[in-house]
Amino acid sequence: MKFNRTSEYFCLLSGENPELAQYELESIVHAMDNKIYLKPTSDSRIIRIIPNRSLSTKENFYFIQKLIQRATLVHCCCRTLYYIEYRNNFLSNFENLVESFDEKDLYGLESTNSFCVRTRRIRNPTGLLAESQITQKISEFFGAAILKLFPNKKVDLERPEETYRVIVSKYGLWFGLHAFDSLRKIVRKRTARDRPFFHPSSMNPILQRTLVNLAALKEGQWLLDPFCGTGGALLEAARLGFRSIGIEIDRRIIWGAIRNLKSDDETKSLTNLIFGDAKHLGFRFGAVSAIVTDPPYGTAASTQGYNLSDLLIEFFTEIKCILLPKSRVVISIPSTVEFEEKAATILNASYKTFYQYVHRSLTRKILVFSLLE
Ligand SMILES: C[S@@+](CC[C@H](N)C(=O)[O-])C[C@H]1O[C@@H](n2cnc3c(N)ncnc32)[C@H](O)[C@@H]1O
Repeated sequence: MKFNRTSEYFCLLSGENPELAQYELESIVHAMDNKIYLKPTSDSRIIRIIPNRSLSTKENFYFIQKLIQRATLVHCCCRTLYYIEYRNNFLSNFENLVESFDEKDLYGLESTNSFCVRTRRIRNPTGLLAESQITQKISEFFGAAILKLFPNKKVDLERPEETYRVIVSKYGLWFGLHAFDSLRKIVRKRTARDRPFFHPSSMNPILQRTLVNLAALKEGQWLLDPFCGTGGALLEAARLGFRSIGIEIDRRIIWGAIRNLKSDDETKSLTNLIFGDAKHLGFRFGAVSAIVTDPPYGTAASTQGYNLSDLLIEFFTEIKCILLPKSRVVISIPSTVEFEEKAATILNASYKTFYQYVHRSLTRKILVFSLLE
């Protein structure tokens, strides 16, 4: 199979947890009222973005850029120029690929910019060639095709004006013009230890931001973290432009959270903290549209003498009364705790489960509950 879709995009997702990466994108698109569409491919690490025909090119561009900048588990997003699915294996099809590649696939490119082609193999499709041999061969092929059509272009491997990307997956080869960068690299550089106050229970910022995205917050909505600890979720929500309220029961930790939130000019006006108990939140019915939280497991963070299951039952019973219909609750608990069925019944919600390996003695279970009408 071969196709080219000049108005489509493809994204390369993080390899750590492609299912979670896909759901993060779906949640952001949901928060944008499905202005654009996502289409999974045979490879779980690649997802297609289909523009909305009823929107202008500029509007589609705006929504796609917003999606990619908000996501944490995306490596890159390219405008699709060409895709070919292998018939048998990659090597026996390389000649086939050369034959089927049509210069028309490069439709709409600038004729003068300097460029480079970067090839990345996400699964070894041959098992015979070393990665560098495959990637070099492919980069040269596409580089030569571009130069044939646009002789005025120059190859510049250091500071190219345009970057073309080739992704060699197990099932096919994707070729596109790099369009948007995610902020993943920037978020990855942040660590909880860089903040003025650190506690061993703090979640790493990239996962914290993923959880905020899974809550599918729409413009103007705010987020509640009833076990907010040092304030990680509040900080990431604020960086995405959302207001948030955190509740914390431990005085020492809430003082630390205040220091963390105040130290950041970008976020301090969007975040609020309340010294209180997640089991007795006291918000009015329907006041909350999204909860993202990481309750204590009783190891690094104290459950205040509670058994974790009892604490969760009281907590879910409390939030049931304050959530709006169709709200989302995103919660991270140890994978050994079986609580999702009970919580879904209490909330009258459907749910999705994802697993995130942290270290030898902790795998997190991320649960995303979507309340029914
Ligand atoms: C795992 S930590 C949260 C970590 C947070 N995500 C961060 O990045 O710092 C859980 C927090 O819940 C707090 N906590 C425990 N019981 C609570 C309760 N009943 N109400 C509110 N907070 C509680 C603990 O003191 C702890 O700081």
